[in-house]
Amino acid sequence: MQFIKNIKQKIKLSSLGFLADSKGIERRYNREKKNWDIHLNNTKEFILNSTKLHSGTLLVLGSGRLLDLPLEALSKHFSKIYLYDIIHSSKAKKEVSQFNNIELITADITGGMLNEAYKLKRKNGQFFSYTNHFSSINFETNFNPDFVISLNILNQLDIILIDYLKQKTDISAHEIKKLRIDIQQKHLRFIQQYNHCLIADIEEEWYDDNDKLIGIKPTVFVDFNDYKEQKKWLWKFDTSTTYYSDRKTYFNVIAVTNSSL
Ligand SMILES: C[S@@+](CC[C@H](N)C(=O)[O-])C[C@H]1O[C@@H](n2cnc3c(N)ncnc32)[C@H](O)[C@@H]1O
Repeated sequence: MQFIKNIKQKIKLSSLGFLADSKGIERRYNREKKNWDIHLNNTKEFILNSTKLHSGTLLVLGSGRLLDLPLEALSKHFSKIYLYDIIHSSKAKKEVSQFNNIELITADITGGMLNEAYKLKRKNGQFFSYTNHFSSINFETNFNPDFVISLNILNQLDIILIDYLKQKTDISAHEIKKLRIDIQQKHLRFIQQYNHCLIADIEEEWYDDNDKLIGIKPTVFVDFNDYKEQKKWLWKFDTSTTYYSDRKTYFNVIAVTNSSL
């Protein structure tokens, strides 16, 4: 597993945009609290239902600000919880410090693609080839989890990485699509080794000022057809047109599990 021990040296998080991203989540939540709470409560409820028959060790991938995680209930239910994210905010650290069975793990959930991307900076201008740089990189864990939660992270794993690669390399549209699909497939394959649930926004829906639907953009390129247990809902993500300045953005969210609900 790619632990990031000395994070400032190994990877310049701020230059990859994660610090801004983490603060952005907090600001948008404060602005959109009423709409976000519906999504956050749906997520928490789905997690509690999916995990109710499980105990032991829990891995949470994409814990972030912990807004969508029923931490207290899970800490009573599981003997050990590992929360994974590329960055843990001071608020998340403070919250977690109340529980003696929860540990924060700072790691790149792509398995180290961000470090690879950062190295490319020094070879600016080189021809980018996905096959050479990222295809053999896989996320692993040293723990043997009894349950894994993928927490609103599936389509986030590639965003900052690809923005960065677009700036620093001549990555083609074809390579971007390939990388995006591969990251999502690998993530799914990882969690599918275990009892798991996944919550992810899979499409952006765009609305005009009159709440008329003006477009849809898919953000996930894997399918969930094999899951018997699934739920879907709409997350009114940005009603104040700060995500895109000319439209409101809602997300279609899917939640799936291989456990009985
Ligand atoms: C939309 S948030 C998930 C919501 C989160 N549970 C919360 O309440 O804030 C996506 C999270 O993914 C994390 N993330 C994005 N790419 C990552 C990567 N490659 N490795 C680890 N974490 C990553 C971000 O830091 C962020 O906390």
